[in-house]
Amino acid sequence: MKKSIIRSTGMFVPPNVITNHDLEKFMDTSDEWIKQRTGIEQRYWIDQEGTTGASDLAYEAAIMAMDSAGWTAQDLDFIIFATLSPDIMFPGAGCFLAAKLGLDSTPTLDIRQQCTGFLYGIATADAYIKSGLAKKILLVGSEVHSSGLDKSTRGRDVTVIFGDGAAAVCIEGVKTDEKAGVLTSSLHTDGNLAEALTVELPASKFPDRFPPGVPVDDIRFYPIMNGPAIFKKAVRMLPQVINESLEKAQIGLEDIDLIIPHQANMRINQALGQFLKLEEHKIFHNIQKYGNTTAASIPLALHEAIAQERIGKSGEIALFVGLGAGLTWGSVLYKFL
Ligand code: UT7
Repeated sequence: MKKSIIRSTGMFVPPNVITNHDLEKFMDTSDEWIKQRTGIEQRYWIDQEGTTGASDLAYEAAIMAMDSAGWTAQDLDFIIFATLSPDIMFPGAGCFLAAKLGLDSTPTLDIRQQCTGFLYGIATADAYIKSGLAKKILLVGSEVHSSGLDKSTRGRDVTVIFGDGAAAVCIEGVKTDEKAGVLTSSLHTDGNLAEALTVELPASKFPDRFPPGVPVDDIRFYPIMNGPAIFKKAVRMLPQVINESLEKAQIGLEDIDLIIPHQANMRINQALGQFLKLEEHKIFHNIQKYGNTTAASIPLALHEAIAQERIGKSGEIALFVGLGAGLTWGSVLYKFL
């Protein structure tokens, strides 16, 4: 049977480093508050005067991943693009990425599952490979948050956590009898909790896409988040969805070499580690440098974990896990071939 094997990874962040001290210039916040509550020290933002979209960041990450796999864009038979911040409302960012890669007929699929976009993406890639629909898939997570954040004190709880960035993986269907590749995935959504993290406008449900008389700095143009509610839900659901995948794959937590969680808040991931009684080296953090890059966060962490030789040897098992807007949550178990 075909197994879905990650051949390579790539990443890209825009050149502007925004430190917590830089944010102090726009809003009433402090380096101390941000570090204590989130673990974040800096994040990267696109040039605020330019026109960089999610597909531009994705292009750079995709080229790095494809070079590393020895693939060209012509080798791809499917592109999956996970983002909550597509270049424009439609068409999807995958269309723009494919065009930038010089392609004119390769199928693309945008996934709008926010922080779990990569988890939904890898599960989709696995299904395409196992059903024979595709052999060589590029999966990208890419976000440009900075152009849509409320940079006044009103938006400080959200704005300090998000960063721009992209990461990509090349996934190939490989015939092998070994237990390898994507072992299992567990995905969930509870749309009853959608209001906990949302950007409401513009919205097709309103005439002209804006409620009449709405000013351009209306809070509904920006992400609004009930941070404490999401925090509590994450701490409860992440261990649960990890156990769900472990049970499905019939392996134990002790078999996992590295947990690579969505980087939403260092405290969430530390609480997860404590709850599972994990040794510190078994859970990966890089939120300090990048903030929360949403759909890019898990593949970006995977890329760095492989580069730092924390994971990637044949037979090692990684567990990807996350929860975010939707609310959506999930976990994926992956064994390196
Ligand atoms: O990946 C997407 C999914 N999202 C998440 O996973 C986010 C989960 N939640 C969180 O990460 C945290 O809830 C936050 C980092 C967003 C907030 O941390 P918190 O410890 O839950 O703080 P809080 O919202 O309870 O606010 C505590 C205080 C409030 O002031 P008062 O009412 O106690 O006077 C806030 O107004 O901190 C204030 N505050 C800030 N102060 C300085 C909120 N944001 C800031 C800020 N700088 N940036």
